[in-house]
Amino acid sequence: MRVLGIETSCDETAAAVVEDGRRILAQTVASQVATHARFGGVVPEVASRQHVRDVTQVVARTLGEAGVSWGDLDGIAVTCGPGLLGALLVGVSAAKGYALATGLPLVGVHHIAGHVAAAFLETDLVPPVLALVVSGGHTEILDLDEGFRFTRLGATKDDAAGEAYDKVARMVGLAYPGGPKVDELAQRGDPQAYDFPRAMLEEGLDFSFSGLKSAVAGEIERQKRQGEAVRAEDVCASFQQAVVDVLVEKAARAMRQTGRRTLVVAGGVAANQGLRRALTARAAEEGFAVRFPPVRLCTDNAAMIAAAGCALLARGRCDALTLNAHAQLSL
Ligand code: KG4
Ligand code: ZN
Repeated sequence: MRVLGIETSCDETAAAVVEDGRRILAQTVASQVATHARFGGVVPEVASRQHVRDVTQVVARTLGEAGVSWGDLDGIAVTCGPGLLGALLVGVSAAKGYALATGLPLVGVHHIAGHVAAAFLETDLVPPVLALVVSGGHTEILDLDEGFRFTRLGATKDDAAGEAYDKVARMVGLAYPGGPKVDELAQRGDPQAYDFPRAMLEEGLDFSFSGLKSAVAGEIERQKRQGEAVRAEDVCASFQQAVVDVLVEKAARAMRQTGRRTLVVAGGVAANQGLRRALTARAAEEGFAVRFPPVRLCTDNAAMIAAAGCALLARGRCDALTLNAHAQLSL
C-alpha cells in the first residue's frame, strides 16, 4: 500500500510517499524556521500563508522524487489536528482537493499518532509498544495496542517539554527554536550546578514543567542582579538534567505498570542527547527495549503521517470529503 502524507500543523510544509507504513519512497520538508526566527516563535498567520504558497510544490516534488504518479497511490493521509488551525486547514484542504480529483481514499491523522508511527518507519518493529511523546506542543505517555489503538496514560498539566526548552533557550539568549542549542550547551555544563525542581516525580504519569521554567528564570535573574555573567552552560545542563530525570522516571514507571516490553520515544525532544543517553541506560537496567527514530523523523515530517495513515487505511478507516481541521483533537 502506497500512501501520500501531508503535514502542515505548525511551521513545516511536508509531504512524503510511504510504502506499507514502513518504507519511505520520498519525503520533503520545507521548513519555515528562518521566517519565524526573527519573531522568536511561530506566527500562525505567517505560517498559514507560507503553507498556501508551498504545499502544492512540495507535493509535486515529492511524487516526482518517489517516481510515482497519482495512479500508483492507494490513499492520501493528512494531519487534521491538533495544531494551528489556519495551518492545518491548508493541508486538509489540499488533501481534500487531491482526493476529489483522483478518487483516492482520504484519511485524517492525529499529529501525535503520526509522531508515534515514525518509530515504525524503516524498522521491523510491531505494536504493542509504549510511547513517550515529547515535542514542542506535547508531553504524553501513550499505550499503543496491536490494533493501533491509543490509550493516554499521562500528559503534561502545563508546558510541553519542548516548550520549556524553547523558553529556557530564550532566557539564556539563544535563537528560536532553541531546544537543540540548549542540548548542545548542556553537554559543556555541570548538571549538578543548580538543584532545579523535578515536579511530580514521585506520583503518577503526568508531568508539569512550568515550575521548572520559573525556577530557571529566577536563577538567571539572581545571577544578573548580582552582576555575574549568566552561566548558560551550567543553567542549561542543570535544566536538562531536571527534565531528563522526570521523563526517564515516568517512562520507566509506565513500562513497569503496563508490562510492555518496548518503549518508543517520539517528537522533537526525542533528538535530545541527554534524554537518549539516560533512557538507554535505564532501559538496560530495567530490561526493556527503547527505540528512538532517527532525528530527521523525530521532528515534524510527513512520512510519519503517511505511516499512521497507512495503518488506519489498512484497518478500513477512511474519511469523507467533509473532513475538517481541529486545533484541539483527542486521540
Ligand atoms: O515534534 P516537533 O518538531 O514539533 C512539534 O510537534 O512540537 O518538536 C519541536 C520541539 C521544539 O520545542 C524544539 O526545541 C525541540 O522539539 N527539540 C529539542 C531538541 N531538538 C528539537 N529539544 C531538546 N533537545 C533537542 N536536541
Ligand atoms: Zn510535532
